[in-house]
Amino acid sequence: MTDTTLTQRDHDTTFRLQDQYLRGDVAGTVRTSRLFRTRYPRAATTTRLGPERSSTIATNLAPVLQHAQPPAVLPQANESCWCGSGRKYKRCHKPLEGRVLPGIVSPTLEVPAHIARPPYADTGRVERWAESRVKSPEIIERMRHAGAMAAEVLRLAGEMVAPGVTTDEIDRYVHQLTIDRGAYPSPLHYNGFPKSVCTSVNEVICHGIPDSRALVDGDIVNLDVTVYVDGVHGDTNATFFVGDVDPASRHLVQVTEECTWYGIEAVVPGRPLSDIGRAIESHAKKHRYGVVKAFIGHGIGEQFHTDVQVLHYYDPRANMIMRPGMTFTIEPMISMGTWQHKMAFDDGWTAVTADGKRTAQFEHTCLVTDDGVEVLTAPGAVSPCAPWRR
Ligand code: MF3
Ligand code: CO
Ligand code: CO
Repeated sequence: MTDTTLTQRDHDTTFRLQDQYLRGDVAGTVRTSRLFRTRYPRAATTTRLGPERSSTIATNLAPVLQHAQPPAVLPQANESCWCGSGRKYKRCHKPLEGRVLPGIVSPTLEVPAHIARPPYADTGRVERWAESRVKSPEIIERMRHAGAMAAEVLRLAGEMVAPGVTTDEIDRYVHQLTIDRGAYPSPLHYNGFPKSVCTSVNEVICHGIPDSRALVDGDIVNLDVTVYVDGVHGDTNATFFVGDVDPASRHLVQVTEECTWYGIEAVVPGRPLSDIGRAIESHAKKHRYGVVKAFIGHGIGEQFHTDVQVLHYYDPRANMIMRPGMTFTIEPMISMGTWQHKMAFDDGWTAVTADGKRTAQFEHTCLVTDDGVEVLTAPGAVSPCAPWRR
């Protein structure tokens, strides 16, 4: 299989990047898709790449080449697969045509020693402690600063989104922007997450790991930025268009942003958290979209995630009362089809829609005030703010 692969490789420009990895010019890690593991049970599920591992690479060539991204012109069903497996296209990658495939994850980036790290940064283990749901004025002031910083980093990262840019390049930029501001990129090492931002493309719902996949004209991509500064987190995300996006996907993204802001407008002291889910779900249903249930908004402050749960659909049991000083995120994931998700990659993070249809998300960190809400990641409610107020 190895020899076939090597000759085909020369004819396919999509293998150029993989070549670099194979030569050991670049280090990284490949992870396999479920489909790949079913077909090639004996291949390693994770392969480390790099100068010091070149002998391992030769024996694990197949999984590496499986991580090549598809070429612009796809083979006919009975021709050999573009991945170099030697199998017919229809028996290899055809079932995944149009789907996001896992790429290669580059080595971990470092955070300079002078930047204060959250407790999980060194171990990757998240140990929760009791944290007041209602924050002191002093913590709130620090959270305003963290929220504004996360919003700025998200805006700048969004400006980088374009066809041909890899999600790994976006990660490097977010990492740099964050440390330039004296902050720690919260996702890095959180429960072992290997990167500084989550990048979720098309049918990827959330927690996508930045890798060697280049964004393609017509994609939609969510960037989820969280920064840790002065001992508190600010968490915000948005979905961006890559080049020319089809009208149905644009509509999905627009309605998802509207859902987020209907949720935000339901933040009223004295009212139950379930009001938020009701507002989001009813707007999504109007457009016959699905509301993903497996991932929810969360309390936030000195910890990235606290015990406050913000459902994005209506459940009467979500009866916790919103109190002035509470801080939590609202981050609905809305899909063009089913609300159900699956873990299709072998990385323990990447969640995709069960039907492969596209999904979008927006997120803000919110503070309950005496008479409503302050959006800490939309300071002054200037851009971004409720779409219908723009
Ligand atoms: N930022 C995500 C959220 O909105 C959490 C990412 S956790 C990570 O809750 F480990 F994937 F970074
Ligand atoms: Co987030
Ligand atoms: Co969040």
